[in-house]
Amino acid sequence: MTEFAPYTPEMALKAADLLAQGGLVVVPTETVYGLAADATNDNAVARIFEAKGRPSFNPLIIHVENAAMAGEWAEISPLAEKLAAAFWPGALTLVLPRRAGTRLSRLVSAGLDTVAVRCPASGPAQAVLAALGRPFAAPSANRSGSISPTRATHAAKTLSDKVDLILDAGPCDIGVESTIIRVEGGQIYLLRPGGLSVEAIERVAGVRLEKPQWPEIQAPGMMESHYAPQARLRLDALTPSPGELFLAFGPTPENVSATRNLSPGSDLTEAAANLFNHLHELDALGDRIAVAPIPEEGLGLAINDRLRRAAAPRP
Ligand code: TXA
Ligand code: MG
Repeated sequence: MTEFAPYTPEMALKAADLLAQGGLVVVPTETVYGLAADATNDNAVARIFEAKGRPSFNPLIIHVENAAMAGEWAEISPLAEKLAAAFWPGALTLVLPRRAGTRLSRLVSAGLDTVAVRCPASGPAQAVLAALGRPFAAPSANRSGSISPTRATHAAKTLSDKVDLILDAGPCDIGVESTIIRVEGGQIYLLRPGGLSVEAIERVAGVRLEKPQWPEIQAPGMMESHYAPQARLRLDALTPSPGELFLAFGPTPENVSATRNLSPGSDLTEAAANLFNHLHELDALGDRIAVAPIPEEGLGLAINDRLRRAAAPRP
């Protein structure tokens, strides 16, 4: 039986207890809701893959309370430390070498010698981590291939009866997943655009983000149709055609009515926060969605990345 509960500090303790016993808990974070399991418990981590219906070769992000906890499980180079100091807690995930000889589940890394680490800013996620005292692994709390969850009800749609507890803390502030970068010596590689802008990262790192050259990145967020709604999407549409719902961005042209607007004032941060919720709602209203053009800058990179995947041909 899945318990669905508003977040309270007492519920954070209960969530940590469930995790420590190998349970699965949906935890709110500032990016999207996460499907959490104890990162040191292989069985619990395996239950994540089972609940999501996700191919098990896809590695997961571990969530830590702070940089000190990150250092217990991963090797933090000086450049990684600088980025963590600037952006943690927040929407930055660092792919780092696994520290040797830890109890971290191998399944978390899907056999790689690296681990993806993020320190979430949200109060509920922080409270669960503080009570647990070690990392939880958490992908987005949705069935593999469906839209990412920015509200507890989104997670409940595809995961209820597969998890022990769903904590509800309202809509996520950021609304798109974290930006994932790999730090290799003095170089940084962008693995997934997300809630922290490329520009902000490059400013602190003092080097440009490069495109990765290795094959391991054929990972879930990287699969073409990963964020697919049921409806078909047509991107860069200035106006909807007859029969299409319209997802607008910015002021809509005369005689055009938007079914939903990501941000009437053309604010990319607001648009990111609305993206998945609007897609969830439009998906329930019809089967064809025209989407207005989104500028390819700042958080627009992450928004366009998710939209292109949602529009890609289905497997
Ligand atoms: O904002 C977020 O990042 C959310 C919240 C819950 O924290 N989590 C999330 O997790 O988006 P998930 O599993 O949906 O996406 C994790 C991405 C995948 O594309 C995976 O391939 C990549 O991280 N990843 C994880 N470990 C990796 C590693 N060692 N090397 C390269 N990529 C890795
Ligand atoms: Mg995901």
